[in-house]
Amino acid sequence: MRKKIVAGNWKMNKTLQEGLSFSNELKGLLDNKTINCEVIIGTPFIHLSEVAKVFDGTKIHVAAQNCANKESGAYTGEVSAAMVASTGAKHVILGHSERRAYYHETPELLKDKVLLALSNNLTPIFCVGEVLNERESDKHFEVVAAQLKDSLFKLSKEDFAKLIIAYEPVWAIGTGKTASAEQAQEMHAFIRKTISEKYGEEIADNTSILYGGSCNAGNAKELFSNPDVDGGLIGGASLEPVKFLPIIEAIN
Ligand code: 13P
Repeated sequence: MRKKIVAGNWKMNKTLQEGLSFSNELKGLLDNKTINCEVIIGTPFIHLSEVAKVFDGTKIHVAAQNCANKESGAYTGEVSAAMVASTGAKHVILGHSERRAYYHETPELLKDKVLLALSNNLTPIFCVGEVLNERESDKHFEVVAAQLKDSLFKLSKEDFAKLIIAYEPVWAIGTGKTASAEQAQEMHAFIRKTISEKYGEEIADNTSILYGGSCNAGNAKELFSNPDVDGGLIGGASLEPVKFLPIIEAIN
């Protein structure tokens, strides 16, 4: 059975001290609570090892928000998948629309990052999603299918089975305009069908597909109640433990 997951993505927010204070507070809030999902916190690189230590021995995992497309060497400023794994992080967010748009990450480069992440035992949380004019011109299914095919459908069945997918419509990210529960379910079912056509029903059924884009305590329950929505990738509402906790608790 596929996992239910709530993952936070802090993006470029929080100093190390702020990140540690968040982590200790969230750990305290989750203590003695029954949580029905896996919880992942996506922090900046420099926070990873310290935050991983705070959550050591708990069910909360830490994710990087990126990794290099090269194994090692003279790539000033880059952080490799092996380095990420050495911090205790178990996941890495790849293909986020902000990385595609602002850092020109291409499908080919993303495929290389996914392969390096997997060979270092990191689970990629791979993001797909259309921009507003693609949705308005009814191209959203085509765009998302191409994002899956161009980066992920070159993987072996065994490797693909290790991935987590996040559907993040770009028009919903940070805008307060979330996709409706129907729009999310429709796209998640489409993603699952597309995976099934390539890798078979069993792999598709076992792939966790998260929704991201202005998900918050007010809309999480409705979004997560859809059969193909297996949790969320949360930006703004993951920055404060009291806002993040009810989203975690929205999974039942
Ligand atoms: P918001 O929740 O702030 O819209 O961000 C979503 C996101 O981009 C998570 O990766």
